[in-house]
Amino acid sequence: LMHYLISLGLAYLIGSIPFGYIIGKVFFHKNLLKLGSGGIGTTNTLRNLGLPAGIIVLCLDVLKGSAGALMACLWGPIPADYWYFAVGVGAIIGHTYSVWIGFKGGKAVATSLGVLMVYSLPMVGIAMLAFGIAVFLTSMVSVGSMAGFISVTIAALLYQDWALFIVALILTIFVIYRHRGNLKRIKNGQENLIPFGLVYWA
Ligand code: G3P
Repeated sequence: LMHYLISLGLAYLIGSIPFGYIIGKVFFHKNLLKLGSGGIGTTNTLRNLGLPAGIIVLCLDVLKGSAGALMACLWGPIPADYWYFAVGVGAIIGHTYSVWIGFKGGKAVATSLGVLMVYSLPMVGIAMLAFGIAVFLTSMVSVGSMAGFISVTIAALLYQDWALFIVALILTIFVIYRHRGNLKRIKNGQENLIPFGLVYWA
């Protein structure tokens, strides 16, 4: 148990590095917490700091998830693949409730993707496909993110991967909760669009 808690704590610390916030402060002298959606993730970085910064934050945040999940391997070979999630969840919590910025943070999307990458690449493909289709149709990254989580949950159910199913279901509920501001904006027709996809072009 001690080993597990140490891995989990390390994963949390890795996840809690607020890359979007740091890059905004250091290179742009802007505070992402106070701009746009107030998020420090890829989308709000893209929105306020431009495409290159957005791509860098995406890569770093995905990497945090993968690095966090890999903390499961610190003590030798792990007994089962779902341990990546058991430990990787630390990075997801670190990213969403970062101790360095008053327990604020991102919406768990990129970090979860990083954890999922370590667990199953085909599932990453399913998530990205659903994400891409939903963003193409709605021009809303928030809708794409939620669609990605829901599709992995359904795929896990179909493949009877029960460990992934339970984790994906919990993460889906968590991610929808983290997007509650977005959902309110969607309902009011005020969600931020990205300059791509059918709704934006219409
Ligand atoms: O990954 C976060 C995305 O789904 C929404 O971001 O900044 O539009 O709330 P944002």
